[in-house]
Amino acid sequence: MTIQLNTVVPWGRSFDEYRRMFGLAEENFAGRILGCGDGPASFNAEATARGYTVTSCDPIYACSATEIEQRVVDCYDVMIAQVRRNAEEFVWDRFHDPDHLGQCRLAAMRRFLSDFDKGKAEGRYVTASLPSLPFGDGQFDLALCSHLLFLYTEQLSLEFHRAAVGELLRVAKEVRIFPLLTLEQKRSPHVEPIRTLFTANGWRTGICVVPYEFQRGGNQMLRIWSGERSLANGERWDRPYGPSGPEILVQDG
Ligand SMILES: C[S@@+](CC[C@H](N)C(=O)[O-])C[C@H]1O[C@@H](n2cnc3c(N)ncnc32)[C@H](O)[C@@H]1O
Repeated sequence: MTIQLNTVVPWGRSFDEYRRMFGLAEENFAGRILGCGDGPASFNAEATARGYTVTSCDPIYACSATEIEQRVVDCYDVMIAQVRRNAEEFVWDRFHDPDHLGQCRLAAMRRFLSDFDKGKAEGRYVTASLPSLPFGDGQFDLALCSHLLFLYTEQLSLEFHRAAVGELLRVAKEVRIFPLLTLEQKRSPHVEPIRTLFTANGWRTGICVVPYEFQRGGNQMLRIWSGERSLANGERWDRPYGPSGPEILVQDG
């Protein structure tokens, strides 16, 4: 087993990582975005500074900034030690080594913490847990879920995934989930049942190659979106992000 974790850890990524994990193009930021399970990621803080409309939800937002910082610090040594032990399972291009990875994660957390109290007062950080979210139907154009669903396959059942994806599709017109690998670096066995289920229920689904790979082989994202959704300017069904967007490997619907 590569990374062994009993619980879902608060470990945060940056805006640039979100942009690449989810193949986000400029036009994707025109709408309202939900980051589900954003934890201590700096995506919301950085996106808001750029003038975009992002809401993040996570159960950890019930905690104070100091408590969240302590939880990140508490898991830091375990995370870095496990990555160091299994370094060959990761792609070391943007992160030079495990220490550099750790510094980037702490930098993202600090950026998040500097925005947390203000963002919470503005309703940008909402305490909530899948599979039940306190948002209205279709409140968001796009919901992003990074390093929670599929990754924690051992901790989160297929039934949980079904309910969680259904809930995300209730509140958003489109859902993107990254990565499709588990902590053991294997394709999650939940991916195909989820795709099949939502395709059978009239959703369009696609697995896209994205310009982000840290877990070796983990450069694919699942998109699920409404068949009624109209394509934005420059989008095509086979290249939905425009010419520079990620390639869709498989598409149903
Ligand atoms: C590994 S972190 C990923 C954080 C962020 N998405 C990123 O990629 O940088 C997983 C996050 O999922 C959150 N989480 C755990 N259970 C959840 C649930 N049922 N609903 C929403 N978020 C949850 C945790 O609190 C944690 O912040």
